[in-house]
Amino acid sequence: MAKITYIEHDGTEHVVDVKPGLTVMEGARDNGIPGIEADCGGACACSTCHVYVAPEWAEKLPPKDDMEEDMLDFAYEPDPARSRLTCQIKVTEELDGLVVKMPERQI
Ligand code: FES
Repeated sequence: MAKITYIEHDGTEHVVDVKPGLTVMEGARDNGIPGIEADCGGACACSTCHVYVAPEWAEKLPPKDDMEEDMLDFAYEPDPARSRLTCQIKVTEELDGLVVKMPERQI
């Protein structure tokens, strides 16, 4: 399991264990965490699963592919250094301790 901290825009923290193999988006959805809408269900086609990754984690995650990069242009106030689409991040044991923060709103 990987412990992931999801922080809502108002600062409310949710710390949950997510099974490797799921995505960071699925970890939020399965635990009823608000702030990640995931309208397209994980197809990288909506950008409503956008988060800001904690700075210390931004470099440690696998890099974005072109599709994620393009779709992030449609996200609400994306930050080139820290924005990611959570449906594109696969959870592994190495992500234990990951911290992500939801934007003020999803588009
Ligand atoms: Fe739609 Fe991630 S869930 S882009």
